[in-house]
Amino acid sequence: MKIIIYGSQYGTTRQYAQELSKRTGIEAEEYSDIKDINQYDTIIYLGALYAGSVMGMKKTLNKISNFNNKKIIIATVGLADPNDKQNTDNIRDGIKRQLSEEVYNCASIHFLRGGIDYNLLNLKHKTMMAFVHRRLKGSKEEKKTAEEKVILETYGKKVDYIDFNALNPIIDEIQ
Ligand SMILES: Cc1cc2nc3c(=O)[nH]c(=O)nc-3n(C[C@H](O)[C@H](O)[C@H](O)COP(=O)(O)O)c2cc1C
Repeated sequence: MKIIIYGSQYGTTRQYAQELSKRTGIEAEEYSDIKDINQYDTIIYLGALYAGSVMGMKKTLNKISNFNNKKIIIATVGLADPNDKQNTDNIRDGIKRQLSEEVYNCASIHFLRGGIDYNLLNLKHKTMMAFVHRRLKGSKEEKKTAEEKVILETYGKKVDYIDFNALNPIIDEIQ
């Protein structure tokens, strides 16, 4: 049995999950609604990135106990550019830290781009971004990572980088 599971705070990851569900006919569920992860043999996990952590991924995927014939596909959704290798290397390292070795070794990883609307952010997230923005404003241009540059460029704004075509390699892998 196949399942798409997603962790999304503001909806961009949910949009990707629902589109993937539409295109593949596989049901999409929020991670908090998953009762028994071990009943699925193909698990596609889409999670939003928050300070390098993939929302809901650790508590969901680390419950997998049977790795026989298991296919695990993870796709992160973040603001930073997935074409930047330093960014994807960082995300990969973060995923490795969050997952057990068995789950990590079994998983293939994809990177999607989401968006942000500062008007919708909760107080905790607004405060975090204000803190990061203040720190970054003072740092040297050549030292900034792709992730830091995008935070500065988009600070206080509403941006949407959602690209459903980026789901195609995931669909190819599922089939
Ligand atoms: C507090 C905070 C931390 C974030 N950390 C990251 C990050 O580490 N890497 C990244 O690429 N994007 C980061 N983002 C951007 C989100 O990943 C992006 O807005 C994503 O589309 C949110 O997904 P959601 O709408 O499904 O919640 C962060 C956003 C906020 C508000």
